[in-house]
Amino acid sequence: MSSPFQPALSHPMLPEASHDEMAQQLFVRDLKMWLGSEIEPLQGELARKLDPGATHNDRDAETFARLHEQPAFRSWAGTFRASQELMWDDVWHSVERQGDALDTLAQEATLGSLTLDPDFVPPAYLVDGHVHIMPGGYAFDAPGVRQGAMMDRGGAVYMLGRNGGFLNDGRGKTVLGHLYALYPDLQPKRILELGCGVGTSLVPVAQAFPEAETYGLDVGASMLRYAHARAGHMGAAIHFVQGDAEHAPFPDGDFDLVFSAALMHETSAEAIGQILAESRRLLRPGGVAIHLEVPSRYDSLDLWSQIRAQVERDYNNEPAWQAATSADYDALMRAAGFDDVAVGFQDAAWAPQPGQGGFGGESKGVFRSWFVASGRQRG
Ligand SMILES: C[S@@+](CC[C@H](N)C(=O)[O-])C[C@H]1O[C@@H](n2cnc3c(N)ncnc32)[C@H](O)[C@@H]1O
Repeated sequence: MSSPFQPALSHPMLPEASHDEMAQQLFVRDLKMWLGSEIEPLQGELARKLDPGATHNDRDAETFARLHEQPAFRSWAGTFRASQELMWDDVWHSVERQGDALDTLAQEATLGSLTLDPDFVPPAYLVDGHVHIMPGGYAFDAPGVRQGAMMDRGGAVYMLGRNGGFLNDGRGKTVLGHLYALYPDLQPKRILELGCGVGTSLVPVAQAFPEAETYGLDVGASMLRYAHARAGHMGAAIHFVQGDAEHAPFPDGDFDLVFSAALMHETSAEAIGQILAESRRLLRPGGVAIHLEVPSRYDSLDLWSQIRAQVERDYNNEPAWQAATSADYDALMRAAGFDDVAVGFQDAAWAPQPGQGGFGGESKGVFRSWFVASGRQRG
């Protein structure tokens, strides 16, 4: 599958873009960058002008409501939403064009395994809402591997290439960085990612521990079919299982390392505590859980960033964003029974090495660090 439009850091399952499709995807990426870097700062200025006395944690909701009376804000927010819809539309058409070929290629991937549950009922928050406007949502079982292919290609465009380009593996490498920094003794024999999506974070972790048996759990059948094929074509033998991270279909103490990456903000306030507790149940004594999230805490955001989080909720179908960035992970992890709880910001890692990796109390910003809560099951 080589073409001038196939990026160098890629894999065989990634849908290719034709000349015109690539032009559309680059247009959407540049539109998003322009909206974010040139137009969004003007919205922050407008918010401050509307209510000069407003501060974060104070009148963020009122200022957000007042912004809606401003045509400039409505234009920006509407265009932001339209850019997201346009992105999925472009990527879906490109995936649909090559869907049959991708299904055939998926059949050739034999490493690892795929366990789908025809009776699986996904959690209501993933059925009712299509997070970040992805058509059909995560739980949608599009034919074959199409939904997964759309999520993979669309996810890389959505991240504007800043999370490891088309491999989109920056989060997984940062989980490894955290493991190497805080738990250098752990040599996991069994690894599980809760909410693995198409496996972009799981593959680098599996590759770092090739002797381990590695599992990925998620809700969507099409996504998991794609994840299995994608990992297999990358040489990673991973077992993908359909299930709910709140009630994972594995016995107690089954894993040495359980992690999640950008899962919590796509669940619900109630689910976050349940998933943290579930991750402890799944660990053997001595095992470690690492949960990585977006690199911000709601309370410490400035006024505009808090309003921006509300824009994510209302214009990008991200209803749990605020809950996930406000949850008290330290208390929740301790309540779940974890020891050695660590909560803070892990430097984004691109080539994680044992003994390296900065972890501390300050976020360095988006794509430079990630929020992480981790802990050990001491039995
Ligand atoms: C933003 S994606 C991140 C995917 C992957 N962890 C990564 O880093 O690329 C969030 C994933 O969480 C999954 N998810 C959300 N709630 C879940 C639940 N209750 N059980 C299993 N997976 C869930 C979604 O289906 C989606 O694939």
